[in-house]
Amino acid sequence: MARPQNDNFLRALLREPVDYTPVWLMRQAGRYLPEYCETRRRAGSFLNLCKDPGLACEVTLQPLARFGLDAAILFSDILTVPDAMGLGLYFADGEGPKFERPLREEWAIRDLEAPDPNVHLRYVMDAVAEIRRALDNSVPLIGFSGSPFTLACYMVEGGGSDDFRTVKTMLFERPDLLHRILEVTTVAVTDYLNAQIESGAQAVQIFDTWGGALPAHAYREFSLQYMERIVAGLKKSHDGERVPSIVFTKGGGQWLEAIAAIGCDAIGLDWTTDIGEARRRVGDKVALQGNLDPMALFASGETVQKEARRVLDAYGAGSGHVFNLGHGISQFTPPERVSALVDAVHQYRR
Ligand code: CP3
Repeated sequence: MARPQNDNFLRALLREPVDYTPVWLMRQAGRYLPEYCETRRRAGSFLNLCKDPGLACEVTLQPLARFGLDAAILFSDILTVPDAMGLGLYFADGEGPKFERPLREEWAIRDLEAPDPNVHLRYVMDAVAEIRRALDNSVPLIGFSGSPFTLACYMVEGGGSDDFRTVKTMLFERPDLLHRILEVTTVAVTDYLNAQIESGAQAVQIFDTWGGALPAHAYREFSLQYMERIVAGLKKSHDGERVPSIVFTKGGGQWLEAIAAIGCDAIGLDWTTDIGEARRRVGDKVALQGNLDPMALFASGETVQKEARRVLDAYGAGSGHVFNLGHGISQFTPPERVSALVDAVHQYRR
């Protein structure tokens, strides 16, 4: 199987020459698009949307129909993995994700098992295959998973949290239990990402959304170590093409050298780190992805263009940069600012 017609995204991740800096946006399919809200209404709920491969494919393609994006990302959620482990994911209206059975009892932690992704997450693999057929080799498809620590945060807290009190109490008091959760989840994520690769994902990203909430001494032990094992266990190529991996630790700016050393192909940066400085620190070990503040999209089209150029200039010349936001796009973003952003990135020194 050949590379996609537009393979600038894959080239940038592998630090090969590109025609221009490729761009995609975290959460590019989401509530800021009226057509997404329409499909979600038809599906009845966000989870129905994730679990129906036809609808997941439809919303994956929506942002690509509007904007000249250089990659598609599978429409799904990181919490499908703990759902498949039996925790019972649901979304209470306006409250974000919740689990019916949070993971707190020692017996439940001992009983935790990694699901077979081709059975319990079959709907994700079917969506990946359907999206690849629909893309018809136009742009690459990104698969993804949460990091073990980020998944553990939701599994132990039972939902979102602003202080991570329950999971951090476990970390300090019963690190053995947290490590047991992380071990099982590491196997689950490795199998899950490899199944996505076998179904057609051409790059994968690990979302370590909460790794940056850890104390510095605990980041390697409770988050990075497990991502290193996952990266080591990933299929490095499929259908004769390399499948690059991206590690995104939100708030991970102080640990870039350590992240660059785990064997991933690229590091995702949030907006608090200067991307030029990050590049000097990691050298030619990895590519960098990021890192415009998503709130910049609320400024005028002209400002969006100026801020995009600031990021491009900070990275500087040469390949190895995938333009993205520093975190997911806000649901309140005006879609026309996304057009302004994508055009600004593509036009700059083309
Ligand atoms: O990037 C993409 O377009 C792919 C789709 C994607 C979603 N979630 C869709 C989604 C991806 C990659 C995710 C990852 C995800 N999910 C993360 C890690 C990335 C990050 O943002 O840091 C996390 C922490 C989750 C867990 C999760 N899912 C939360 C906290 C929420 C509620 C967020 C909110 O804004 O209400 C979700 C729901 C969710 N996942 C939505 C979407 C489009 C909104 C659901 C809706 O339509 O109501």
